[in-house]
Amino acid sequence: MKLSQFFLTTSILATLPCTVLAMEPVWKDVKSPPGVRAKALVNAMTQDEKLQLVMSRYALGNGPKHHKIPEGALGSAGYVPGIPRLGIPAQQITDAGLGVTNPNQVRPNDGATGMPSGQILSGTFDPDLAYEAGKVMGKEAFHRGFNVLLGGGTVLVRDPRNGRNFEYLGEDPLLAGNIAAAQIQGVQSQHVLSTVKHFAFNAVETNRMKVDMKIGERAGRESDLLAFEIAVKQGEPGAIMCAYNKVNGIYSCENSYLLQLPKKAWGYRGYILTDWGATHSTVAAANAGLDQESAAEFDAKEYFGKPLKIAIKKGEVPQGRLDNMAYRILYSMIHSGLYDHPATKSFEPEDVAAHEAVAQQVAENGMVLLKNHHNILPLSPNIQSIAIIGGNADKGVLSGGGSSQVTARGGNIISKTGPKTWPGPISYFPSSPMKAIEALAPKARVNFASGENIQAAVDLAKQSDVAIVFATKWSAEAFDSADLQLSDAQNKSIEAVAKTGKPVVVVLETGNPVEMPWLHDVDAVLAAWYPGTAGGPAIANILFGRVNPSGRLTTTWPKALSQVPYPYIEGAGKIINADPGKRPQYSSDNQVVSSIDLNEDGANVGYRWYEQKRLTPLFPFGYGLSYTTFKYKKLNIVKNFTSDKHTMIANVTVKNTGNRDGADVIQVYGKMPDGSPSRLLGFRKVDLKAGETKTFDVPLFPASLSHYEPAKHDWEIVPGNYEIFVRPDALSHEGLKTTMHLDKIDLPD
Ligand code: BGC
Repeated sequence: MKLSQFFLTTSILATLPCTVLAMEPVWKDVKSPPGVRAKALVNAMTQDEKLQLVMSRYALGNGPKHHKIPEGALGSAGYVPGIPRLGIPAQQITDAGLGVTNPNQVRPNDGATGMPSGQILSGTFDPDLAYEAGKVMGKEAFHRGFNVLLGGGTVLVRDPRNGRNFEYLGEDPLLAGNIAAAQIQGVQSQHVLSTVKHFAFNAVETNRMKVDMKIGERAGRESDLLAFEIAVKQGEPGAIMCAYNKVNGIYSCENSYLLQLPKKAWGYRGYILTDWGATHSTVAAANAGLDQESAAEFDAKEYFGKPLKIAIKKGEVPQGRLDNMAYRILYSMIHSGLYDHPATKSFEPEDVAAHEAVAQQVAENGMVLLKNHHNILPLSPNIQSIAIIGGNADKGVLSGGGSSQVTARGGNIISKTGPKTWPGPISYFPSSPMKAIEALAPKARVNFASGENIQAAVDLAKQSDVAIVFATKWSAEAFDSADLQLSDAQNKSIEAVAKTGKPVVVVLETGNPVEMPWLHDVDAVLAAWYPGTAGGPAIANILFGRVNPSGRLTTTWPKALSQVPYPYIEGAGKIINADPGKRPQYSSDNQVVSSIDLNEDGANVGYRWYEQKRLTPLFPFGYGLSYTTFKYKKLNIVKNFTSDKHTMIANVTVKNTGNRDGADVIQVYGKMPDGSPSRLLGFRKVDLKAGETKTFDVPLFPASLSHYEPAKHDWEIVPGNYEIFVRPDALSHEGLKTTMHLDKIDLPD
């Protein structure tokens, strides 16, 4: 190794005072590129130090095998000790898909800001807001001493029963990739490293530890892998988390196709770590490209650490592979800023109000108004009486369960219900919609009925000017819902209240679309999903028109399961073997769905499936109402395709045709000459004053007009006429259309 790799050049040293002539190592030089610094660090490390870096330990006390929290760990999802002699900080790893999950491990009775669920974050169609949300999570993590966040859920929503859809960003790769990238950048702006997960095709939770997801290369690259490609290229996450499931017969975390794709084709320089319990081998995993075994206690045995040392000695894994693992981890630690700015646990107060305000802004911009018959909404602040029914709306809002569960400030506001062990209990954040409604309707008599006693709910509705019924359905990690139904009791209660003839507004707090047998009998429906720790005021602000709703669906809402690509998933709905202290998926007798052929919908996830099969869903991707209306006046495409650059922009003229200010989501779709279903080409959220007309540039993504050609390893635009649409949702026949001719173009992979 050259001395110059280690130390600053003598010319720089000559300018330093003699006392520091002791020579600063290169890895300390903040001006050197992360790659140079990481390489110098690897060169200075012992074999055992490298081996230490490539394996984390579980750092919560309740994990498998009755392990102890490792010394030095703050206590959350994982821990890797630091190497002080080289200035390498410990990796303090915590979940943070929707906010820092275990704040109380660091500071007793502490809570964190819970961001609204992925449907809301993506439903904003606003990467700037996603960046702000990521920034809050990064800040709160840093403040507690965590420097690696396990967030960035980018799996495409293929099935409306998936228990983790609330952690994901919808069914479209362009949207999901862009929102994930912005959120990752927000987190990493705070010197905290973010992951993107679960790589790849973790489309259902049922039997997730073993299920084999089968998918062809072209379909894969044009769907989930495209979402990841965008997130990785634009967001530059420090780490990618490989998934539990197999892909085409091989576990994700030892699948060389998957693990090499980002590194070889996407220019990815960071590392790949496993999901908790997703490592299955030493040699196969290391040689396929895995860089870090996570929380080794979760695996059947330790695979990296000592076994890796032995495999290297035997020549089964090249030394260069271990060096590269260490290099990638250090590269990301330097690149994300955590090497130079180590997170420290702090007891200083943080700006809670500012953080909750971001959560509220996201919620207000991403919830979706599904129905508003005769403009019953917004409600007047002068309303005299309001019945609030169900959903614990007097106390708080529902959140999703599992490893992303945030402990809110104030904790779980209801007594424990749901599964007695992880991913339970069901948790409600202390943000009461009822209290927020009371504040906005000062003249109103506001009363609550739990909804359990249907007659009491009906009586209350009869005495009120409006009934707002809250309906909830809990989703959580490790299981899928068996169906799309709300509980019978909730459906009956809504139906009975609707029969009173009083105006009825339904607010849904769910992790997925649900069937609404009463849809025609109620006046308005607001999909509030899991709205986060500021959900109460956000719901109230929308109901009273303080905020004009502008969220759009990012998952097509089916009429029934018969419309979805996988109407029956064996075992869906069961939480298996929920032993205390164990995560249920570790059961070995899990005799449920063993493989799913994702080629059924393939690249045509979500709305594309509906277009291909000529199915009419209840509400398509991109759908959402506002208290005003918009009309598209002009659509013009400006393309600039040179040999080294391909850019396309849509100029869209939009008019706010109503009498309220509001925000529209301009959605541009493209259809290829081969007739395959339309794809989202670009989007932009825009504000327009009542009556205002404006023209906006919407950047378009040429890959949405191309197919991936596996044999050529590139994206190909075939010659022909392309139809471009600006539409209020993915399947709408309204809006404008133009045709554009393109010659054959190869887009670089
Ligand atoms: C989840 C991951 C999570 C990890 C650590 C796993 O069960 O699938 O998303 O980051 O646990 O808690």
